[in-house]
Amino acid sequence: MYLSLIVLAMATAPLLSAGPAAQTQESRMDRSTLRELAQRRGILIGAAVSTNAFGEARAAREQPYLDILARQFNILTPENAGKFANLAWAPGQYDWSTLDAMFDFAAKHDMKVRMHTGVWHMAVPKWIDPAVMTPAQIEQALKDHIFAVGKRYGDRMAYWDVVNEAIDDKTFGLRKTVWLEAIGPDYIAKAFRWAHQAAPKAKLVYNDYGIIAGGDKANAVLELVKQLKKQGVPVHAVGFQCHLLNGERHSRQTITDNLRRFSDLGVEVHITEMDVAIEKFEGDRAAQIQTQAQVYRTVLEAFLATPGATVFQMWGFTDRHSWVNNFCKRPTEAALIYDRDYQPKPALGALMDALAGR
Ligand code: G3I
Repeated sequence: MYLSLIVLAMATAPLLSAGPAAQTQESRMDRSTLRELAQRRGILIGAAVSTNAFGEARAAREQPYLDILARQFNILTPENAGKFANLAWAPGQYDWSTLDAMFDFAAKHDMKVRMHTGVWHMAVPKWIDPAVMTPAQIEQALKDHIFAVGKRYGDRMAYWDVVNEAIDDKTFGLRKTVWLEAIGPDYIAKAFRWAHQAAPKAKLVYNDYGIIAGGDKANAVLELVKQLKKQGVPVHAVGFQCHLLNGERHSRQTITDNLRRFSDLGVEVHITEMDVAIEKFEGDRAAQIQTQAQVYRTVLEAFLATPGATVFQMWGFTDRHSWVNNFCKRPTEAALIYDRDYQPKPALGALMDALAGR
């Protein structure tokens, strides 16, 4: 009785501040939230949090962004705030303020945190400069960074994307990066080992894009993870980003077959950055939005059918704050599950239906 009162309060209270339109549309739907349904399935469901949106929402108390985040999700990822260049403005000089606020928000709302990202070829601080640093200095800088982040947040992060996008799209070998050139191919194993020393409680993730449906790149990641496991490197999960921006539609079976190969290696499987652009789908906008819902549903169902699948995350939740708006320079993009006015789209209902097995 007491529990159901709490659940009812959680489901209804934030609607009051999400605006009358959102209230009407959401109240037509099942009153359960994504996070309640996910919890019943034993998984975590979440979204990336934009630094700008989070900051503005807190300053202006813009309720829809924060309410939906807390109400619908039980895990979050800082979209950019945890990246090397965004944290360390000079060697050893860190600005933790945004990340601290996100970790506090997560704790307050009983949400887990997936940290993102440790080692990446992008968001490298300008002061990491092979023209003036020796390879040994670059290695030390990366090690210091991983220890700095791991020590500060190790007890509070559930997962950490330690290595991001290390496989090259054309050669399917290791991507040429400042880290590969300075440290050598071992940089990946080293990064995971440092992260584990610094944050022994966190589960450590290899995260990449373009690998959800199998193929050469997925095979290369599979082989990489296999080799790392063989060497006893602490890698606990593989993240499949799932930016479906070009009208890709994969069958549930194709995705499950691919994901299962990874969970068979003994790692958890995460969908980490899902978004689905609509413009390459057939039909008018209404039809495209329905197809988008179906694509979200198919990926979630494939994920739910995979043993060892534990975290399903989108790269944001509202089209108002989505990287595709800027990065893809296609203003008609509407890749997420709420529209720009925080109105739920069919994709939200589709995810709920998939979680509820309807
Ligand atoms: O916030 C500043 C703004 O103040 C400034 O005026 C403007 C000028 O360029 O830049 C803004 O920062 C941008 C930031 O996004 C916020 O919009 C950065 O330039 C831009 O580089 C940054 O892009 C991010 C990108 O990673 C590179 O770090 C995207 O938001 C973020 O969504 C994207 O996320 C990546 C994942 O980390 C890894 N997987 C792919 C995914 C999508 O590319």
